[in-house]
Amino acid sequence: MLPLDDETAEYAAKLLRQGEVVAIPTETVYGLAANAFSQEAVAKIFAAKGRPQDNPLIVHIADLEDLTAVAPAAPQAAGLLAKAFWPGPLTLVLGKSPALAPGVSAGLATAGVRMPAHPGARGVIRKTGLPLAAPSANLSGRPSPTCAAHVLQDFAGKIPLILDGGPSIVGVESTVLALEDEPVVLRPGFVTAAEIAEVLQAPVRYSKTVTAPLAKGEAARSPGTKYRHYAPIADLSLIKGDFKAFCNWAKGHPNPGLWALCYTGEEKKLPMPALAYGSLGDSASQSAGLFAALRRLDEVGAQTVYVRWEAEDEKNLAVYNRLLRAAAFRVVQA
Ligand code: TXA
Ligand code: MG
Repeated sequence: MLPLDDETAEYAAKLLRQGEVVAIPTETVYGLAANAFSQEAVAKIFAAKGRPQDNPLIVHIADLEDLTAVAPAAPQAAGLLAKAFWPGPLTLVLGKSPALAPGVSAGLATAGVRMPAHPGARGVIRKTGLPLAAPSANLSGRPSPTCAAHVLQDFAGKIPLILDGGPSIVGVESTVLALEDEPVVLRPGFVTAAEIAEVLQAPVRYSKTVTAPLAKGEAARSPGTKYRHYAPIADLSLIKGDFKAFCNWAKGHPNPGLWALCYTGEEKKLPMPALAYGSLGDSASQSAGLFAALRRLDEVGAQTVYVRWEAEDEKNLAVYNRLLRAAAFRVVQA
């Protein structure tokens, strides 16, 4: 693990050109990067993460000129969205170039593409001179990493290099948008459907899998949505209601190894040990703190976790979506 600077970025680029896997910072979460044109390199990502083979990867580019090399026939809408949101936490699902390694798209005709806002990430991509496939740099099923130390927890001794570029500012993964027919958000992130609709001057909807599990036998448009994600070892439940309702409900449902995941400032007022993930009503602080808090719950040995949740709106939908998955969709109205 090395701090990201010009010299270490050069070293990373050399490893990446040789077909190695390198963990890099982005503004959303850390990514496990490899040459998106090399099937051998991409296969190393799947092996290191223990990732299901049918879950496609996002391709990262540093400059708009690089888009045609990965998505040669991107529609006009993609250009508008790139201008509005790149570099930044929006992934566009586009028709893929045959030059991409088949593993990147895991059998789909499309590839997810984004330009990360972290200047260090773009620096590594430019020095490598290749688009980089990069899923979140966690073992499959573990919470996504929002700092280099999280990556080290999962990959110490398993990959040659982790570049430390500081904490990920956004803290949840990018918004994934499919543009094929009607624009649909497959995964909510910092960029909202309303913001995308404003740029496209067209309606944009959320896939129903954003807040509901796939029906039995239903095919996933975004294969990543079908796996239990972000799962700490403990059993999580979302307890909906205000602070008083939460406390009353929790008192009536004692459990061994019980912890609360609450809002900042509530830790000491609760009848059980608690960790905060962000401030009530402040979706940015909740995004930034969520994954670190989930990892911390494992470290403290929590067995059952009651998560404070007041109400969802479009701004906190990304956090709600991650919590629902961490809780395997167990939600209680207190
Ligand atoms: O913010 C991010 O997007 C981070 C950083 C590292 O850039 N990356 C990330 O990658 O979250 P990953 O692999 O953890 O999540 C990729 C998501 C999955 O849900 C996957 O199914 C979806 O994007 N995806 C990728 N390519 C797709 C495609 N062609 N069609 C539909 N969904 C796709
Ligand atoms: Mg991931």
